[in-house]
Amino acid sequence: MDIKNEEVLGDYFVIKAEEDGVNVIGLTRGAETRFFHTEKLDKGEVMIAQFTEHTSAIKVHGKAIIQTKHGTINAG
Ligand code: TRP
Repeated sequence: MDIKNEEVLGDYFVIKAEEDGVNVIGLTRGAETRFFHTEKLDKGEVMIAQFTEHTSAIKVHGKAIIQTKHGTINAG
């Protein structure tokens, strides 16, 4: 896969679940956008992950704090 902006690869994000059953859903990079993995977090659990060659976007379902280099978002 030819990704021009290599700066996005390797960016970390942090998600802290503020309730049980928060879903972190990874979406595929490239022409076809598909859900490929769902990680379930319970209250207080933290996920530290990166955007990769395979992952260009995430969807977060539930109450959570999301930190990226762009800032912090209270979701849910
Ligand atoms: N195998 C996936 C990848 O390398 C793992 C992954 C990275 C992931 N970041 C993610 C899964 C974010 C879900 C959400 O891309």
